[in-house]
Amino acid sequence: MLSDRPAFEKRIKRHVIGRFREYFAGTAPGLESLCLQELQALPLTIHKAQTCPGGVLFHGRLIDCYRANLYLRTANRVLMRIGTFKAAGFHELEKKCSELPWELFLEPSHEIAFRIRAKKSRLFHTAAIADRFRSSISSRISSPQQTLHGRNERQQPQTVFVRVVDNRFTVSLDSSGVNLHKRGIKTIGSTAPLRETTAAAVLMLAGYKPAKPLLDPMCGSGTFSLEAAMLASNIPAGWFRDFAFTGWPAHRQARKRWEHMKAEGGKQISFPKQPPVLASDIDRRVCNAFKKAISGHELGAAIEILHRDFFDIQPQNFTHRSGLVVINPPYGRRIETPGGIRTLLLRIGTKLLRDFPGWKFALMVPAKSMLQQIPLSFRTFPIFHGGLQVVAAIGTVPPTADQSPP
Ligand SMILES: C[S@@+](CC[C@H](N)C(=O)[O-])C[C@H]1O[C@@H](n2cnc3c(N)ncnc32)[C@H](O)[C@@H]1O
Repeated sequence: MLSDRPAFEKRIKRHVIGRFREYFAGTAPGLESLCLQELQALPLTIHKAQTCPGGVLFHGRLIDCYRANLYLRTANRVLMRIGTFKAAGFHELEKKCSELPWELFLEPSHEIAFRIRAKKSRLFHTAAIADRFRSSISSRISSPQQTLHGRNERQQPQTVFVRVVDNRFTVSLDSSGVNLHKRGIKTIGSTAPLRETTAAAVLMLAGYKPAKPLLDPMCGSGTFSLEAAMLASNIPAGWFRDFAFTGWPAHRQARKRWEHMKAEGGKQISFPKQPPVLASDIDRRVCNAFKKAISGHELGAAIEILHRDFFDIQPQNFTHRSGLVVINPPYGRRIETPGGIRTLLLRIGTKLLRDFPGWKFALMVPAKSMLQQIPLSFRTFPIFHGGLQVVAAIGTVPPTADQSPP
């Protein structure tokens, strides 16, 4: 059987590594255009990139999928389409499913999970559909030529995504593994942490420039600060984590290109001499937990953490340049009453107006209607955050007369 190995590797090269395939970078609703912009800014060989509800579709090669995983800040995961077919009965499903070349994508040792969504189709029982997929996959990937390769020690569980609409099955493999908002840095939670993907999106919408200071004065677990520090240090979004694709059979041949890509990314990283990010919070325990989470971490060089009430902060005590202040105040059932939130937002708006002239601001609020009394102009962007829709209010505090250009 060893003689089959070159033929198998040739098939992988032709069908998985070299072939243009459809990929889907999934995002939170509302972040699709930002994700498309990010993709278009990367050195990829992709084409036909376009937004669709919940993400961006593009055609590319495996190496583009690797790069998208490593660099995209707003995507939750990247799926590789491996097949589409029609099936209106279980017998047909088994037949079509067995025709997919699973051995090119999965190892016999892979732990496989299924995420199945079915609508307007004769087959809709997701557990029964998963059973048919499971048996078709195991009938194909237990072949001796596959087991010759042994187990890949970096293997993550593999999720097969199946979408069924009008009896048409679209089958994809998750190349990312753990959701991409998990950057592999944070080890602590807070009362209401933002997703890293959301924080990155808000920074992009606010036009964050790493050369300018960033203040995160209600930092909690520090999501905004960490995203800004990664941007300021030029660290790719997925630098500190692993991905499911490193356990794919194709990765044996693609590993060198991946290592080269990472080495190139590593050369771009440079930690700033002065921390460009100031994170603070009124809760001492929160500050200590954040300090602990990044202690000994190279990123710590980019973030200064202070225990401080936002309303006592005077930005000129830290910097003479205006930058971006990002605020995710406490809200939601667990934290505040609606009246309390409005009062807090009004205080925040008044504080910004008085003490942050010329600064850009991004303020996360539960609803647009709560912004009525804020004495500032801004644009609003709906953002989905932990199943809730929140709003990012983004604007610039009017500069003082001496800050205004002549
Ligand atoms: C919604 S949490 C922030 C979550 C954060 N964005 C994260 O990703 O973890 C709100 C934070 O605001 C802090 N906070 C509330 N009032 C404050 C104030 N007056 N000054 C500074 N921090 C305050 C709370 O201690 C809490 O950590």
